[in-house]
Formats: sequence, C-alpha cells, structure tokens
Amino acid sequence: MRLSISILLFVLTLPIINTSAQQSNTYDAKLRLAEEQLNLLLEDANRTNRIPRTIGQDGEIHWTNTGFDWTEGFFSGTCWYMYEHTKDKKWEEAAKKFQSLFDDHRFLTLYHDLGFVFNCSYGNGFRINRDHKSKQFLIDAANSLIRRYNPNVGCIMSWNVDKGWQAERGWKYPVIIDNMMNLELLFNVSELTGDKKYLKIAVEHARATMKNHFRDDYSSYHVIDYEPETGKVRNRHTAQGFAHESSWARGQAWGLYGFVVCYRYTKDEVYLRQAERIARYIMNSPLIPEDKVPYWDYNADKVPNEPRDASAAAITASAMIELSGYAEVDYLDYAKEIIKSLSSEEYLAKKGTNRHFVLKHSVGSIPHNNEIDVPLNYADYYYVEALMRMKALNK
Ligand code: GLY
Repeated sequence: MRLSISILLFVLTLPIINTSAQQSNTYDAKLRLAEEQLNLLLEDANRTNRIPRTIGQDGEIHWTNTGFDWTEGFFSGTCWYMYEHTKDKKWEEAAKKFQSLFDDHRFLTLYHDLGFVFNCSYGNGFRINRDHKSKQFLIDAANSLIRRYNPNVGCIMSWNVDKGWQAERGWKYPVIIDNMMNLELLFNVSELTGDKKYLKIAVEHARATMKNHFRDDYSSYHVIDYEPETGKVRNRHTAQGFAHESSWARGQAWGLYGFVVCYRYTKDEVYLRQAERIARYIMNSPLIPEDKVPYWDYNADKVPNEPRDASAAAITASAMIELSGYAEVDYLDYAKEIIKSLSSEEYLAKKGTNRHFVLKHSVGSIPHNNEIDVPLNYADYYYVEALMRMKALNK
C-alpha cells in the first residue's frame, strides 16, 4: 500500500519535474549558443589583447578605451559566467587576463562607474574563487568610489563637470540613475570588511535617489543636478534620454536592478516596494512592444519607428528574476518573455555574425549620436547573467 502511494505521488509530480528539467535544458541550450558566439569573440580579443565593447561605424569591433571605460568590466564578467557555466578553465583564464588590463583603474577617483567595472569583473571572480587578490581590488575600488560622496547631497557624484560635454550643461553635481548600479560594490565591500561606512553611503545614496529621481508614476529622471553645499535639487534633466521629462529605457532598468540589489543587502522593505513600483511602471507601460524589448526611450516621438534597446531588456530580465525571489507578485513570467524575445532570431545573432557579439539591437546614446542599433558588451553580460539565473532557479 505504502509503495503504491509512493508510486502515485511520483507519477503525479512527474510533469512538474519534467517542466523544470525542460526549462533547465532550454536555458542550458541558450547558454550553449551564447558560448559558441563568445568563443569567437574571445579569439578576436586574444588577437588584439583588447576588450570588445561594440561595433563601430566602420563595421569593425570597437574596443574599450584603454584610459578608462565604464564598460571595461563586462567582458571579463561574461567570461566569469561562462566559466561558471562550463567549468572550462579557458574562461577563467580569459576573465583574469582581460580584467588585469584595467587593474590600476581601481585607484581612479574621476569616475563613478567603478562599481560597474570592478563588481562585474573582480566581483564575479571573488564570488566564484573567494581569492584574496580580488577581495583587495574590490576594497580598493570601493575606497576610490566613496571619495566621490558628498554628505551634503547624500549622493556619490556621477560625472565631473570640468570638461567634455558634461561641462556644457551648467550642472554642478550631477547624479544619474545609472549610479544605483555602483552601490552593489559598496554593499559587497561592507560585508567583506565588516565596515559599515560603505553600507551607510550606499543607503544614503539610495534614499536620496528614491526621493529625487522618481516621478509619481515611478518612471525616473536620468540626471538630477544638486547644489553641492545644500543638497537642493537644481535641475531634473536627461543626458541619454529623449527629453528631460521622458523615460529613458535603460535608466528604468538600472533603477529597477539597483533597488533589487538594495533589498538583497539590507532587507529593508522600502527598497522592495520601490523595485516593485518600477517593475510595474515597466510592465504596464502602454508603450512597451509586444515582445517586451523596449524602445530606447518610452516617450521617444517616433515610436514605433524608433530603435529598440536590447540592453535595457536584458538588465530588466535579470533584475526581475531576482525580484521574483523576494516579492509576492510573480515577475518571472515577464522575465521569461523578455528572454524568449532576446533569444529569437530578431535579437540573437547567428554564430559568426554580429562581429561575434551575442545580442543585436541595443542603443548607447542617441542624443550623442553614439552606438545606435548595435551590439553592446553589457547587453551580452546581463543576458548571460539572466540565463545563469534562470538555470540556477530551475535547478
Ligand atoms: N552610463 C551607463 C549607460 O549608458 O547606461
């Protein structure tokens, strides 16, 4: 009798086991396709000893700037994910080699993007290997990043305003929504060192961003310019979006991902609520196309004849997978729909095409006439991350 109940239970759970196994196979298969393409990109990178970023207007691979480039950590980060996925040492060696090209940048205090750069590269390396060198590099980078913090504002300054196009905007202390992504480094280093100063700065930054960057519908401004002495908001602007009052698609994705990370580390419900509100804004937007890959800006004036931004979709998918582990509402179906679209012929490059990047159709910055409808190394990074997260979930 006991045996037959066991058999009955086993038979009843078979469809569940099967579905989960099938899904896991699906994500494994997608990762295999990404790996085939990344193998070729790695050969290109090894030939030049440079880090691939995108395709330039000449149709060739455009490499990251060797001085400093906010995208320089993503290729190593993708290699770390490939190593985690395949256990092939080739990927570990590649990750180490390409992250070593920017080792010295951990001491730079001119840029806020140190979180992106070091957490995606050395951060993933440390997560996998727990090695002393990576830990020290993360601490060094966090120490450089917090030098850009101003307690009057309660934020880390994003861009310097003394030169370049930023100098022409009349800003004094610009903070961009993207900067939410740099907080992960600070949370991480706070845990690694037990020093709460990193955590405190991350929390202050997140709180000021929550207060000042969001509209009533939980869409976000790209740039908030502050009075450095008082913390008063001077301007609510955009740099990479269609207009000051529009919703730049990648900005919404950065905000979502950033607040999910804040909740991961603090377990403060206020961040979970914020992440869910941003997610709802994205999901309920009447301007989201059926395939869930947004136009580069939700309010661009020529929708539907505007470029899509696959990078925004990939970041959103990855963030929603994590969010679904915390929230009562399910965000997983939406994330799966995005992944399905990105894995379709429309966005996923055929092996050997697309100059060996994985995804097509992303946008860097239309107002700067830069990287329009091209592959981007960070679109690939967050797509692969989303696949790894789905794979882990289905296990
Ligand atoms: N600054 C990062 C981005 O372009 O999204």
